Amino acid sequence: MIILAFPDYLSQAQRLTSRLNAELAEVTIHHFPDSESFVQLPPSLPEHVIVCRSLNQPNDKLIELLLCASTARELGAKRLTLVAPYLSYMRQDFASQPGVAVSQRIIGKMLAGLFDDVLTVDPHLHRIASLDQAIPIKNAISLTAADEIGCFLKQQLDYAVLLGPDSESEQWVSRIARQIGFDYAIAHKERLGDKHVEMTLPANDYANKPVVIVDDMASTGRTLTKAARLLKAAGAGDIYVAVTHPLFCGDAEAHILEAGIKTIWSTDSIDHPTSCIHLDALLGDAVRAIV
Ligand code: R5P
Repeated sequence: MIILAFPDYLSQAQRLTSRLNAELAEVTIHHFPDSESFVQLPPSLPEHVIVCRSLNQPNDKLIELLLCASTARELGAKRLTLVAPYLSYMRQDFASQPGVAVSQRIIGKMLAGLFDDVLTVDPHLHRIASLDQAIPIKNAISLTAADEIGCFLKQQLDYAVLLGPDSESEQWVSRIARQIGFDYAIAHKERLGDKHVEMTLPANDYANKPVVIVDDMASTGRTLTKAARLLKAAGAGDIYVAVTHPLFCGDAEAHILEAGIKTIWSTDSIDHPTSCIHLDALLGDAVRAIV
């Protein structure tokens, strides 16, 4: 087994390689002046090849994945496994108007055509029950970072209220709360635009209590910002954030910190200065279970 690592995801691939006691090789990527991608793999590959790369900022990465997987097959790989802790294009899961591309289904089908196994972490699946409905292969595996986040929070704090900013977050927040014995509450959120979020906090005694806002991803940061402002107004003590996927697009991080958040913690599903919760143990166990 060999793990193919991309330059933008090298440290995560190295940690996974150590977990699996496998071999690592780097994929060479070059961007030509016209933005086309040049992709080069090692000249010979074993039968089982694991491609490790998260698919945030996905457009170039998806083309590079296509070039990488097709070349790996030409070089003789019999089994191709994609480990993509962050899987993009999962949000558009229905045609909201005639003519809208259902990207979840289209990108899912593309990945199913390229890989034998796809492993990801907390994908944004709202209207479907399991990942294989989006990626129609036997081993379409959706893991959760909830336990990793729970262990981390337990090491950082003796007690906190966990706040899920919307009903979708309850699955992770309730699991973490059970695991580490913290209380939790779930807010009601309405998204009125990319950068416009309305929210109401559930009734709770927040006064002077530390609160951790837990979510699957931070994109524009508006969800976290709104939650933090409401918590401040309700008299909460220190406010922290724990997210699985730190996308933090544009001014998101500055915006969040301005809202009075003390610390942001995230997993290394995406490389970011806040990525202190490593997922290699979770991913390594999941790979071991299918080989
Ligand atoms: C929504 O369903 C997700 O769980 C996140 O709350 C959302 O994607 C965060 O987005 P933003 O940072 O843009 O508010």
